[in-house]
Amino acid sequence: MRTLVAGHPLVTHKLTLLRDARSDRAKFRSLADELVTLLAYEATREIRVETVTVQTPVGQAEGVRLARPVPLIVPVLRAGIGMLDGMTRLLPTADVGFVGLVRDEESLVASTYADRLPSDLAGRDTFVLDPMLATGGTLATVAGMLATRGALSVTAICLLAAPEGLLRLEEAFPGEGGVPPVRVVTGAVDERLNDKGYIVPGLGDAGDRLFGEI
Ligand code: URA
Repeated sequence: MRTLVAGHPLVTHKLTLLRDARSDRAKFRSLADELVTLLAYEATREIRVETVTVQTPVGQAEGVRLARPVPLIVPVLRAGIGMLDGMTRLLPTADVGFVGLVRDEESLVASTYADRLPSDLAGRDTFVLDPMLATGGTLATVAGMLATRGALSVTAICLLAAPEGLLRLEEAFPGEGGVPPVRVVTGAVDERLNDKGYIVPGLGDAGDRLFGEI
């Protein structure tokens, strides 16, 4: 598993505003959206392309276009939905699949309640959207689902990550060039998890801040 922490000052600037408890829902949503687009730029660095030639007004230009089959974007319900628009803005032709996991507040174990993913992912780059990589249980489960269906690569885009979650993913998907390769692209790695499984200092409950308490 490879981890890339975006060290860009604009990412850190927006992340700082996102963390701020005074940022209201509208501000939180638009910051999350902007952050995803910045992180997606890094996350798509190795996306599959094929060469094409186009006719410009003055000659022929060699270029590339996204290879087929198109990538699959997988927002993890519910907080990942808040990252979907920012991602499809960069990849407007991608397919979108959905998974829903809920974690037990006592045991912190995640269980799957929705699975709307294609059954065959052979040859496809996949991008999982989950704002908070906390224990790593959710992302390990989703990456496992995608790997089982034959995904070519799995890249998780997380606004924030905890060391505990990164370690868990590293244990589940060891090595640099695993099959499929698993990568995490995140805005920052925070200190730790607290006893309720929240990232410290983190930003609180991302789902609640995006969509309200349930
Ligand atoms: N999920 C959240 O929304 N926030 C955390 O800090 C951890 C998991």
